[in-house]
Amino acid sequence: MSVFEIGGGRPLEGTVAVHGAKNSVLPVLAATLLARGEVAVDNCPRLTDVDAALDILTHLGCRVKREGDRVIVDPRQVCRWDIPPEKMRAMRSSVIFLGPLLARLGRAELSYPGGCELGPRPIDLHLKAVRALGALVTEEDGALRCTGENLTGGQIRLTLPSVGATENAMLSACGAVGTTTIHNAAREPEIVDLQRFLNAIGGRVEGAGGSVIQVEGGGPLYGGAFSVMGDRMAAATWLCAGAAAGGDVTVTGVDYRHVSTVTAALAEAGCRVSSTPSSVRLRRLPERPLEAIAPVSTAPYPGFPTDAQAPLMGALARSRGTTIFVENMFASRYRHVPELVRMGAHIQVEGRLAVVQGVETLTGARLVAGDLRGGAALVVAALGAKGKSTLTGLEHVDRGYQDMDRVLRTLGADILRRDETELAACAAGKLEEELDGIRTTPQTT
Ligand code: EPZ
Repeated sequence: MSVFEIGGGRPLEGTVAVHGAKNSVLPVLAATLLARGEVAVDNCPRLTDVDAALDILTHLGCRVKREGDRVIVDPRQVCRWDIPPEKMRAMRSSVIFLGPLLARLGRAELSYPGGCELGPRPIDLHLKAVRALGALVTEEDGALRCTGENLTGGQIRLTLPSVGATENAMLSACGAVGTTTIHNAAREPEIVDLQRFLNAIGGRVEGAGGSVIQVEGGGPLYGGAFSVMGDRMAAATWLCAGAAAGGDVTVTGVDYRHVSTVTAALAEAGCRVSSTPSSVRLRRLPERPLEAIAPVSTAPYPGFPTDAQAPLMGALARSRGTTIFVENMFASRYRHVPELVRMGAHIQVEGRLAVVQGVETLTGARLVAGDLRGGAALVVAALGAKGKSTLTGLEHVDRGYQDMDRVLRTLGADILRRDETELAACAAGKLEEELDGIRTTPQTT
């Protein structure tokens, strides 16, 4: 187990480049199964979710190697279509392999990915999508057995603009002969990135970013090279950290349009925000507190992103006035609230609503991350708090942030990552000091 040790109250200053986007690279890595040659994926972040995806590709028979920020996948020897439950559980979004396995091998055996910290994560829309192309899906005792030797292009109508279901629809459609039209598709930037990747290896996909995507499937897809977009949630998190601590923070390598709803909220809270096409700068005078803002209601892109709800709340916990959050995307995405309350925040949760009565001061505390973005929220809040905080549960944070502590130290933050051996040595050292103290203290009789 490792721990973040954070000293709050220090303004942040500097420029950081965001790592490649977790929510783009995961479907792109799954999509490499469709290629008939080696695929090089650049700007591939070092995240535990990426490790889990590479482990699944290796299990399926791909040759995988990492060279710095480049990962090379050779899918030519793919020989399996089953993903064991323990590998499905290692990464929440492992269901994204369903579409490419059906398209490549005509078969897929995987277990339900199961719920996660955010609440139930149904996959009914994923199954509806592949069934619309002719796949047969049987579900027995938690296992999904899918066959689809002769997928045929057709109409896929999503009742919700699900990101994952849209991606599985696109990927299975690549293996379906003819034209597939996906209606009510998710419009996230990561969907556009997946289209960019598929077209870079010979695919014919158009419309991503809008609600209707068209795929000409059945043709061969080849090897090639692709560079993943910047991670808009990492960018949003570093900007929220700048807002919480005060200072002058610039994030580069991200399309400013991808974080525009978050930067609009931070500007409304009193920060000065400026952008270029691939960077965003945020300034806040430490002596000028953040102001509460109009209700923040999460929605599919281009609405306010659910993944930025927690980091923004981590910043606005210390503000003047009351901000209301409405979490519409997931049933249980307020796990960071009790931890913020332990720092002195005044937040009340009622179902999907969280009412944040801003306070003037937060105090450092021993904090536990319960999920990826909730962990980020606690780091954001700790940077703006008085005194020291510790954060455990870093296995959640490591899923989606590459070297979070190093990035924040680049901005001048007082944050250190200690692993258990260091902690044990530190504790032993302290014990030794205490023992020394006792030994040298003259005994009074
Ligand atoms: C993706 O998850 C992201 N993950 C999530 O980011 C993100 O929060 C989410 O999209 C929404 O933007 C990845 O891309 C790996 P959805 P996904 O399907 O695809 C319901 C992070 O922190 N739904 O768009 O699982 C579902 O229950 C993660 O980086 C169905 O009902 O999200 C949810 O309420 C967390 N049936 C809503 O749709 C389905 O078949 C949106 O989910 C599928 C989804």
